[in-house]
Amino acid sequence: MRFVRMHVAQAFGPAVVAAGLLLGCGGAFAASAEKGKAAYVQNGCWQCHGTQGQGGIAGLKLAPDPIAAEAFTAFVRGSNRLMPPYQEAILSNDDLADIYAYLQSIPKPVDYKTIPLLNQ
Ligand code: HEC
Repeated sequence: MRFVRMHVAQAFGPAVVAAGLLLGCGGAFAASAEKGKAAYVQNGCWQCHGTQGQGGIAGLKLAPDPIAAEAFTAFVRGSNRLMPPYQEAILSNDDLADIYAYLQSIPKPVDYKTIPLLNQ
């Protein structure tokens, strides 16, 4: 199962690169889901949003299917509600783009209807 999931994550490669471009970190340095996972942990996002962005701890679900890149960035930079805002001095644009790429790389769960054993 884990093995299959890794392949799904790799299939998201082009989308991850596109996210990096969307977030404006330039063509030369494409966003990296791997670095993003580390930045997601280092910056404590997981404490409220869960290690897979699944939500349900104190924060909302962030993945799979994260909100649009611009809305994502705007929220993290300017939150004035329960979540503390993360200014650029604390969390760089590159790290934020990587975090977005990480969240985008998280595969959707398999539909249980496609698993015969769960449909008997
Ligand atoms: C102290 C808990 C906490 C931490 C740490 C935290 N968040 Fe949040 N986050 C929240 C809460 C709560 C919300 C729901 C909106 C609100 O009330 O502020 C939220 C909302 C969001 C949203 C908006 C989701 C949507 O669908 O509108 C994004 C994006 C987000 N967080 C990203 C992040 C990222 C990225 C990090 C790490 C850099 C992070 N959060 C760290 C608590 C947290």
